[in-house]
Amino acid sequence: MDQYTQFKQEGKSEIEDMSKDADLGKLTIDWMNAANARKYSYHFEWMGRPIIQYPQDMVAMQEIMWTVKPDLIIETGIAHGGSLIYYASLLELLETTGVSAGGRIIGIDIDIRQHNRAAIEAHPLFRRIELIEGSSIDEETVAQVSSRVGDARNIMVVLDSNHTHDHVLKELEMYQSFVSDGNYLVVFDTVIELLDHGMFPDRPWGVGDNPMTAVHKFLETNKDFEIDAEIHQKLQISVAPSGYLKCGRR
Ligand SMILES: C[S@@+](CC[C@H](N)C(=O)[O-])C[C@H]1O[C@@H](n2cnc3c(N)ncnc32)[C@H](O)[C@@H]1O
Repeated sequence: MDQYTQFKQEGKSEIEDMSKDADLGKLTIDWMNAANARKYSYHFEWMGRPIIQYPQDMVAMQEIMWTVKPDLIIETGIAHGGSLIYYASLLELLETTGVSAGGRIIGIDIDIRQHNRAAIEAHPLFRRIELIEGSSIDEETVAQVSSRVGDARNIMVVLDSNHTHDHVLKELEMYQSFVSDGNYLVVFDTVIELLDHGMFPDRPWGVGDNPMTAVHKFLETNKDFEIDAEIHQKLQISVAPSGYLKCGRR
C-alpha cells in the first residue's frame, strides 16, 4: 500500500471514531449555536464578494470538485454572489491546470439585487457564470436551466435558497435529475434542525421545518442518492450535516 493510501485509511478510521465522540459533538453544536447568533457565516469573502458559508464547507466543496471535476454547477440562492465566484474560481483552476476541460456555473435567485448583479457581472470570473432571476421552483425557471445545460455531462447541484421544508423538497424533486451519476447534490443549511429552537425568529424555517427534514423526506422515496456522512463527520462544524448527497443512479 502506498503512503497516501495508508494516510487516507488512517484518516477514515479517525473520522469514524471522531463521529462517535459525543462530547465533541456537543461542543460543536454549542459553538454553532453561539456563532450563529453572531451571524458568523456572513463575515467572509471570496475574491472580493461576500460568501455566506462556513469556511469548513468551502473546503469540503473544494475536495468534492477536485474529485468529481464538474463541467456544470447549478446553484439556487446567489445573494452577493460569493459562492458563484468561489465555484467559478475552482472551475478556472481545474481548467488552467489541465485537470478538466472547463466548466461553468448557473446561479438562480428570486431577487438579484442590482448592486450584486453589477459586481458579479464586473468580476473577472463572470465569463464562467450565468444568472437566472426567478423562483427556483417555478417551472419556467427550471425550463431555463434545462435549456442552458447544453453539452454538460458532469453536473453538480447546490441548493441554498429558501430553507423551508416544502421549498427544499420541491427543489430536490425538480433538480435531482440534473445531477450526474457519481456527482453531488449539496443541500445547505440542514444544520437548522440541530440548532436551538427560535434561532431564526424572523424566518419561516426552524426546527422541524428546514432542509434536513426535506432531505430525509426526499430520501424515503429517492434511492438514487445517499448521504455521504464522512463529509460532515470530518468537518464537524458544517451548515450541511446530512446535506452532502452522492448520486449513484441505478
Ligand atoms: C443563503 S442566501 C445564498 C447564499 C449564497 N449561496 C452564498 O453562499 O453566498 C439565500 C438566497 O436565496 C434567495 N432565495 C430565496 N427564495 C428563493 C427562491 N424561491 N428561489 C430562488 N432564490 C431564492 C434569496 O434571495 C437569497 O439571495
